[in-house]
Amino acid sequence: MSDYNQSVLTDEVIKAFGNAPSERLQVLMQALAKHVHAFAQEVDLTPEEWMQGLQFLTKTGQISTERRPEFILLSDVMGLSMMVVSLAQARNSKSVEGATEATVEGPFYWPGAPEVALGGDIAEGVSGEPTYYTGSVTDVAGKPLAGALLDLWSGDGEGSYDVQLSPDPSMRARGKIRTDENGRYRFWSIRPTYYPIPDDGPVGDLMRATRRSINRPGHIHMMVSAEGHVPVTTHLFVANSPYLHEDAVFGKRDSLVVEFKEHPPGVAADGRELKTPYYTVDYDFRLAKAAE
Ligand SMILES: [Fe+2]
Repeated sequence: MSDYNQSVLTDEVIKAFGNAPSERLQVLMQALAKHVHAFAQEVDLTPEEWMQGLQFLTKTGQISTERRPEFILLSDVMGLSMMVVSLAQARNSKSVEGATEATVEGPFYWPGAPEVALGGDIAEGVSGEPTYYTGSVTDVAGKPLAGALLDLWSGDGEGSYDVQLSPDPSMRARGKIRTDENGRYRFWSIRPTYYPIPDDGPVGDLMRATRRSINRPGHIHMMVSAEGHVPVTTHLFVANSPYLHEDAVFGKRDSLVVEFKEHPPGVAADGRELKTPYYTVDYDFRLAKAAE
């Protein structure tokens, strides 16, 4: 029978996880135990703080639903999501070299967005400044990828996502677009604006208690995929958007910042007539070949 004093406790817990049949689970749990113990020791964690931490995690779970994944938000503001993205990029550095960089998925992805015809509007009836998005999807050598899929989602012109607007939302500003035979894509949406992350839950309380900014710079999300290639989950960020340099979830990457060119009212390149000013964006996505 061991005497679980502080000096042996950590080793005992690590040993206790030593029989996990999954080698990877063993590695994960032993390292987690080691670092959680080191954290408690470093800050000399009190029983009150320990309980407050557990209550915070409980609240994070209680507010979570399929459309409100508060733990993803917590991971995002801790920079853990971006760390995992960066680790994946480093791990696959050889195989994804030259490909479009990834960034956080965030809490607002909703699988099953409608297929929209090439050139269509994924944000019909959604408030915001009309924007025509064009570009191509290619491999890292620049060879066009026909039939590549862009699964797109964004907030509206006020920065709200559909899932935030009602407890029983319907999809908007989401759509799937496929590239044509030349690997080109085009679609209409709106120019996304900066927005505050959801702050009416425990993560919001944490951000206020630590005086952190809750804003994200304007961006549109996409998962880009093509057969035989490594898919990428990423954003395009609006150049000059407020908060570009203080993204609350640390997702901004220079290679993903694009200029949204403003145009006066008139006829756009695809013949659409605009009665208000509108924007155009052009961006080429590059995908790495998947391992055989
Ligand atoms: Fe977002």
